[in-house]
Amino acid sequence: MTVYLNGEYLPESEARVSVLDRGFLFGDGVYEVVPVYGGRCLRLEEHLDRLERSLAAVRIEPPLDRAGWRDMLTRLLEHNPGEDRSVYLQVTRGVARRDHAFPADTSPTVFAMVNALTPPDPAVRETGVAAVTMPDTRWSRCDIKAITLLANILARQQAVEAGATEAILMRGGRATEGAASNLFVVGDGVIVTPPKDQSLLPGITRDLVVELAADHGIPLMEAPVTEADLRAAEEIWLTSSTKEILPVTRLDGVPVGDGRPGPVWARMMKHYQTYKQQLREGRV
Ligand SMILES: Cc1ncc(COP(=O)(O)O)c(C=O)c1O
Repeated sequence: MTVYLNGEYLPESEARVSVLDRGFLFGDGVYEVVPVYGGRCLRLEEHLDRLERSLAAVRIEPPLDRAGWRDMLTRLLEHNPGEDRSVYLQVTRGVARRDHAFPADTSPTVFAMVNALTPPDPAVRETGVAAVTMPDTRWSRCDIKAITLLANILARQQAVEAGATEAILMRGGRATEGAASNLFVVGDGVIVTPPKDQSLLPGITRDLVVELAADHGIPLMEAPVTEADLRAAEEIWLTSSTKEILPVTRLDGVPVGDGRPGPVWARMMKHYQTYKQQLREGRV
């Protein structure tokens, strides 16, 4: 695997970052994950918009401009040929003597790698996955895609240990999102997803699902999802760049709806797959 590190393209085994990097010492950095289908990045400009927003929110000067990011991604993908892939991209505040306050004269560390994107397990289409609810113990700026992911990691691990695929996080009586995914529920045939605010990450897949619903006349509302809404939902879905649209068929051990992926999910999944195909063909 060839990775990108601070302007260089080099074998992963040769890439080295200082132990004084603030990403290592403090988790002081932000990241992006961009899915790539047929050599084309899905919603690249939206991913770069979010990266720039994350960088601005944590006050790291953008190390590259738009053209620079695009060029780097193109070259990195050329170095790592393949069909469906995803690019992981990370920017930390850089290397400095350990002190919480920002260092002077340090340039950000920029790292990117390409991973294979494995399509969702076909069995999931039949059975869906299990999710468990738990308190959202994260900070109050979940809109920033920060590499500091300890609370997300603990939530996901707790879900795995409970035999589930994902954790659905609860804050103030509302479901915010998954540990690494956004949340959709279907009630009375209407799709509902929590509005974008500081309690959740503004997912690129989430926005695409909202757009596809509008394009195809499927009713969708951006509104808070209470615990009662979640437990009464006919369908629950979780979305992310790598999970696509995952149907949740068991919540805290209780079947969701009839315990099988629902019809609204099947419809949306079809539109999502069509979108991916159009991207592969360069039509979107
Ligand atoms: C906390 C959280 N919410 C939502 C998402 C989904 O975002 P996207 O659709 O941009 O992958 C992610 C992705 O990793 C995430 O970590």
